[in-house]
Amino acid sequence: MNTTMAEKLTSKELMDLENKYGAHNYHPLDVVLSKGEGVYVWDVEGKRYFDFLSAYSAVNQGHCHPKIVKALTEQAKTLTLTSRAFYNDALGPYEKFVTDFFGFDKVLPMNTGAEAVETAIKLCRKWAYEVKGIHENDAQIVVCENNFHGRTTTIVSFSNDPVANKNFGPFTPGFIRIPYNDAAALERVLAENKNIAGFLVEPIQGEAGVYVPDAGYLAATKELCERHNVLFIADEVQTGIARTGKLLAVDHEDVKPDILILGKALSGGAYPVSAVLANDAIMNVIKPGQHGSTFGGNPIAARVAVAALEVIEDEKLAENAEKLGILFRNEMNRIINESDLVVKVRGKGLLNAIVVNDTEESETAWNLCLALKENGLLAKPTHGNIIRFAPPLVMNEEQLMECVAIIEKTILSFEM
Ligand SMILES: Cc1ncc(COP(=O)(O)O)c(C=O)c1O
Repeated sequence: MNTTMAEKLTSKELMDLENKYGAHNYHPLDVVLSKGEGVYVWDVEGKRYFDFLSAYSAVNQGHCHPKIVKALTEQAKTLTLTSRAFYNDALGPYEKFVTDFFGFDKVLPMNTGAEAVETAIKLCRKWAYEVKGIHENDAQIVVCENNFHGRTTTIVSFSNDPVANKNFGPFTPGFIRIPYNDAAALERVLAENKNIAGFLVEPIQGEAGVYVPDAGYLAATKELCERHNVLFIADEVQTGIARTGKLLAVDHEDVKPDILILGKALSGGAYPVSAVLANDAIMNVIKPGQHGSTFGGNPIAARVAVAALEVIEDEKLAENAEKLGILFRNEMNRIINESDLVVKVRGKGLLNAIVVNDTEESETAWNLCLALKENGLLAKPTHGNIIRFAPPLVMNEEQLMECVAIIEKTILSFEM
């Protein structure tokens, strides 16, 4: 088989290549994609699908958005990478743009979501020692049960998912896990422990299965953090950038994080771009040489991120996500009334999940995703019996209703 002629290979041949030569660190659905545009993707045989995952909420602006592709290709032809050893003419304008956009003094640019989380942890610890006055090496960061913040050694150290951390120890100390959606638990730990530097939280737990906390939780925990001089660190890698019907998910409760972590849709899925935003009183603890990344803040990332954020604003994608999200959950609830296979829908904006009426260990959700694929819609279970539905935010109402019809038909046929 001539592997350089990838466009000539069948789906089966391409899957065989990945399975033989790639590490088995993912369990993909049996579909091989070769093209994307807006809300659609196509497999190598030319079949078209609605993308209902959006690369885990990275492709909020839709596949291959022309404005983002233009920024990417123009910059790629001009200057790709300088490293931060030198200034470049794209980074400063991007830094001004992104800090104005989200309302912070400064940004620290990185590449992936996990790197940005690591950056936030380092920033929080340094602030704790140099500003708050915690004794060196004693700082603790409070995290939540069932969190998902990425895959680095430190991040999996504070995960309670055995799939994520089993046999990856020894683990990084300095984290205290409390139940999610439980402000009283945070209050207790803050009262008991004077060494707490930060509270790291997902405004909605995406990977865990799209768990939306009770109204008031984010505002209450932010208020507790303020009272105890603890940094409120919002991981909006998945929930941010219009996904939940507001620019940020914390905006639903008018909460302003002390540290904001962004990734994924910051590039519209065109390029790995992540960022940590904070005000000077926090960000200024980082001095030259203390943190960085060869690719962080590169000119392509900078231009792409500006274009990606402009698309969010120009096309009113937060407003669209809010409107279509309400319609989607109403439609899912209608289907739930007709069917015993699905018991619940939950979410905000266009970050939603349905809960399949079976055990966590069952194959039902996976098989349902296979059937959805046959019917032209791609989605994946997050955990066991939960399927996440997160289409690109450029979807229109007519397309959404077409997707609802596919989901309804699949669920009903599945029951027979
Ligand atoms: C909330 C959250 N944080 C961090 C990450 C890690 O991002 P990345 O996969 O780009 O490292 C993810 C990825 O799904 C995420 O959902």
